[in-house]
Amino acid sequence: MEKRRVAILISGRGSNMTALIEAAKAEDFPAGIVLVISNIAGAGGLTKAAESGIETATIESKPFGKDREAFERKLHETLVAHNIELVCLAGFLRLLTPWFVTRWDGRMLNIHPALLPSYRGLHTHERALADGVKIHGATVHFVVPEMDSGPIIMQGAVAVLDGDTPETLAARVLGVEHRIYPDALRLVAGGGTRIENGQCKTEASGSPDDTLISPAII
Ligand code: GRF
Repeated sequence: MEKRRVAILISGRGSNMTALIEAAKAEDFPAGIVLVISNIAGAGGLTKAAESGIETATIESKPFGKDREAFERKLHETLVAHNIELVCLAGFLRLLTPWFVTRWDGRMLNIHPALLPSYRGLHTHERALADGVKIHGATVHFVVPEMDSGPIIMQGAVAVLDGDTPETLAARVLGVEHRIYPDALRLVAGGGTRIENGQCKTEASGSPDDTLISPAII
């Protein structure tokens, strides 16, 4: 099986990156992680990727200052030079311009720690707790120029508990992230998704019995 060539872009610890790398080790996984790029020198994820034998690169965004496109041109050149077909953003803390995003249209995925379109942006767990929502989660979506928008590929949910702090909630959502990002990449790389009227349709589907009710009455 010919595997899609994937690059992961990170800025930090790279736990989602690690989940993707682990999943991609399976022989039947339709994608191979061939490159990890960080825009932050010394990001923790770089060491983990190198330990897994994956090529890493650091393209620091800071020296480019406000010249976002110059940074992105370098990023783009590196991806093209490695024959990358799909890009996964995994805790990549840098807004991308339409120049870059349109070049990777339909070929770039992101994971966001909330059930989009709720809680775009930062501090999602704090905001969910402040609103008293009972269900929260994570979303894998295609990247479009507008931040944390774009066709939703997969979502996973957790119950919010009364005693939750942003940290405990984040930890449970992260567990979901590590499940749905590899599954979503499997789906996309395997050709199991298509975009119709700005929405992502998929050959997989949830079972009608997959109901999460929160709180549960004991
Ligand atoms: C995750 O919560 C992800 O949803 C968000 O940034 C965080 C990255 O964490 N986009 P990690 O580097 O993958 O551990």
